[in-house]
Amino acid sequence: MANVIIRPDWHLPEKYATSEEVYRNRRRFLSEMGLAGAGLLAAAGLDAATSKDNAKLYPAKRNPLFNPQLRKPFVMSPQNWVEGYNNFYEFTTQKELVRHPFYMDKFKVEPWKLKIDGLVKKPWQGNAQDLIAEMGKAGSMEERVYRFRCVETWSMIVPWTGFELRKIIEKVEPKPEAKFVKFTTFFDPVNAPGFKNYPTYNWPYTEGLRMDEALNQLTLVATGLFGKPLPKQNGAPIRIVVPWKYGYKSIKSIVRIEFVTKQPKTLWEQAMPNEYPFESNVDPGVPHPRWSQKFERLLGSGVQVPTLKYNGYGKIVAGMYK
Ligand code: MTE
Repeated sequence: MANVIIRPDWHLPEKYATSEEVYRNRRRFLSEMGLAGAGLLAAAGLDAATSKDNAKLYPAKRNPLFNPQLRKPFVMSPQNWVEGYNNFYEFTTQKELVRHPFYMDKFKVEPWKLKIDGLVKKPWQGNAQDLIAEMGKAGSMEERVYRFRCVETWSMIVPWTGFELRKIIEKVEPKPEAKFVKFTTFFDPVNAPGFKNYPTYNWPYTEGLRMDEALNQLTLVATGLFGKPLPKQNGAPIRIVVPWKYGYKSIKSIVRIEFVTKQPKTLWEQAMPNEYPFESNVDPGVPHPRWSQKFERLLGSGVQVPTLKYNGYGKIVAGMYK
């Protein structure tokens, strides 16, 4: 994380210094290309739901239970910050550059193969858009405004769209031996330079939760942000959001969800076990070995506010840690 590995990613070729307008047009073009690609997929006889079919799922109805009354300095984080200041080490450690076409153009998120397996009675695999369509049909898609706290001491307040992870758990029916859920991100060294540039990490990015944490009503499978499908740099097409834990637990662009007996080793835990342990609940009383966790900086305004235990979600989650 901060100060881990510094790389000269700022040496971007001049031609990639695209203006915002050109960049937006390009994104529109790309999304149209994505739809054409999904057509090919259908022709190949694979599952056929596309992001176009699923566009109607956004914006989803906001869940009134997760719609906090925001008062200054706690305001919704500016969308351009949320979508322009990202940790996605598969591409680069330079947060402002992740969304750049230099990285994102080669990142194809449709079709997207997802596997849900391990110790379950009904394993599933298919195109992520099919799973999203299924959740939409079941009425499980919703919007939630959550606080999000990065271990690096910045934080944001954002509206995610998605469904509870427990909907997936109910669908695949874990066996009694399943005690943990392991999540894995894609591995594509050809199109994402982080794999080669940061060889000390144990790729692919993996994360995990205890079964009770995975079943908690707060644990969300996010597929959208600000009333639209997830931008690639925020973990399209499907990611996890665990708002009472440090942000690195909220793994992006997932290709596999596996039910296992033993606590899985995560990428960050393997890299620095004393800095990024498996549990990683937000706690102002437990300093990171290299910095205090007492305060956080709100993304956008930069205002410093005290950090809350469990990121303010103690009423819902503290019971799991007694
Ligand atoms: N998931 C993957 N696959 N790769 C990453 O580098 N970074 C994590 C998390 N999930 C990361 C990831 C960290 S450190 C944070 S703070 C959040 O994603 C950032 O999510 P955001 O870019 O949507 O704000």
